[in-house]
Amino acid sequence: MVNLFGVICLTDLCVVFCFLMVSVNGAASKQETVLEISSATINHSMALVQRMEALLTHGNGSDVTLRVQTTDEVKVIQVHSLVLTLQSDVFEELLQTRNSSALVLRESAECANVFDKFIRYLYCGDITVRLNQAIALHKLASKYHVWDLQQGLTQYMTQHLSSDSPSGHVVGWYQYAMQIGDVALQNSCLQYLSWNLSSVLQSAEWSSVGEELLLSLLQRSDLVLQSELELYEALETWINQNQPSTATAENALKAIRYAMISPQHLFHIQKKSSLMVKYYESVRNMLFLAFQFHAASPVQLAKYFVVNCSLFTPRNYLSPAWGSPWVINNPTRDDRSFSFQTQLGPSGHDANKRVTWNALFSPRWLPLSVRSTYPERSMQPTRTDGGRPRIIVTPATSSPDFAGVSFQKTVIVSARKQGKVVVRHVYNFHQSTEEVGDFLLDADLQRRTSEYLIDSSLYLHIIVKPLYHSLIVAKK
Ligand SMILES: *[C@@H]1O[C@H](CO)[C@@H](O)[C@H](O)[C@H]1NC(C)=O
Ligand SMILES: *[C@@H]1O[C@H](CO)[C@@H](O)[C@H](O)[C@H]1NC(C)=O
Ligand SMILES: *[C@@H]1O[C@H](CO)[C@@H](O)[C@H](O)[C@H]1NC(C)=O
Ligand SMILES: *[C@@H]1O[C@H](CO)[C@@H](O)[C@H](O)[C@H]1NC(C)=O
Ligand SMILES: *[C@@H]1O[C@H](CO)[C@@H](O)[C@H](O)[C@H]1NC(C)=O
Repeated sequence: MVNLFGVICLTDLCVVFCFLMVSVNGAASKQETVLEISSATINHSMALVQRMEALLTHGNGSDVTLRVQTTDEVKVIQVHSLVLTLQSDVFEELLQTRNSSALVLRESAECANVFDKFIRYLYCGDITVRLNQAIALHKLASKYHVWDLQQGLTQYMTQHLSSDSPSGHVVGWYQYAMQIGDVALQNSCLQYLSWNLSSVLQSAEWSSVGEELLLSLLQRSDLVLQSELELYEALETWINQNQPSTATAENALKAIRYAMISPQHLFHIQKKSSLMVKYYESVRNMLFLAFQFHAASPVQLAKYFVVNCSLFTPRNYLSPAWGSPWVINNPTRDDRSFSFQTQLGPSGHDANKRVTWNALFSPRWLPLSVRSTYPERSMQPTRTDGGRPRIIVTPATSSPDFAGVSFQKTVIVSARKQGKVVVRHVYNFHQSTEEVGDFLLDADLQRRTSEYLIDSSLYLHIIVKPLYHSLIVAKK
């Protein structure tokens, strides 16, 4: 009894004590709130920015006149040396060494056009950029060492690759990035062009592609386009419009993967394409090899020829023989499966044989390594948020035809950017996206606003690419 009473007593004490604690805490936080209320921020920074802008517009108290000269024009701007010096050590230097109250700056017409905007940024700290002004502003930011602006512009360009512009801007940005040695921007442009090649080939921008860019694109296996024939036809257009040197035309023609074009189309190209007729001698061996590829099974060919070279390596072709689109509504709801057919391979020998593939998408699949850390639980994890998305693609049946071939699977994930559907990611694997490691890693599919979802759906395109192994023994 005594014991029991003691316990009850203790509990009571505890309750009282806790209550006391709560009141003390309450009082403390109340005091803080009072303090917070009495120290409000008076914020007129917008008005200050407006005054700075007015200072530039009216030129009151100006101590320097900028004379921005192009070959046939002079633009005069009244400025304040203190403001220019604040953000640019180049201006600081120029202003210190000047002899008169005017500072003469020589700029290209393109840069002179946006010079007002550039100076306004130095006064106000914000700037509105249009697609066709990005390069000129970037040049000014670089020349005058306004690093924040330069960085902001690089970011702007990286994020606006897919924006609409009447004559395209990515090719110009690529060339500029190459000129200034900005490898990151150059690669972003190159990847955008590669993953969006079909649209680019059909646009006016295509003929503005430079030789160097053309050849880098043609080397890539990750180009996303309808078919190799589409690429050949686009190259023909490009060569007709640009009239490059014979060496460039030949190099470009040699980068076409003729084996990926059906023999019917190859006949047509060989006899009817004036480009091919003109340069036939330089690619005749490749055409011959392509026809040999079509004549027998790739395994037979592999006994005599090297077949793991680029001529026999598919790119990311969207045409139905190679794969299928797959739209998954509400992808986090449950596992989904999907079947589709492809050709066995692109050769004339295989193109009429079909392979059925089963694809399984799991929104929250747990890798084995994670599962084994919960040994006492069943294989079905109770945590629903721990898993990661996964796709596995397997053939519905096995076939002796698969000998000597490995089927590489590619999943193209599209997303909406600036209102347009663009390729967001390309993942390559053999059977399971597990092999990739980062499949949809930061897609955050749970969120309805995920950048990877279009109207709550995941837009995928699965491509199956047969890769052949060489059987010939390397000569010593
Ligand atoms: C002052 O207001 C501006 C916008 O009016 C805002 O961007 C800024 O963050 C505010 N500053 C502070 C210290 O609250
Ligand atoms: C600038 O100077 C003009 C007169 O020269 C004056 O009317 C105006 O109020 C001034 N503006 C500012 C922002 O000081
Ligand atoms: C300033 O004047 C000196 C001597 O007249 C001349 O050597 C120098 O080049 C001038 N500097 C500028 C920036 O015009
Ligand atoms: C082709 O396969 C051979 C033998 O497996 C290998 O040594 C060679 O590096 C491969 N070539 C290419 C371009 O993958
Ligand atoms: C490719 O770019 C064009 C033009 O910018 C755009 O209209 C199209 O939606 C893009 N497509 C893809 C697949 O990225």
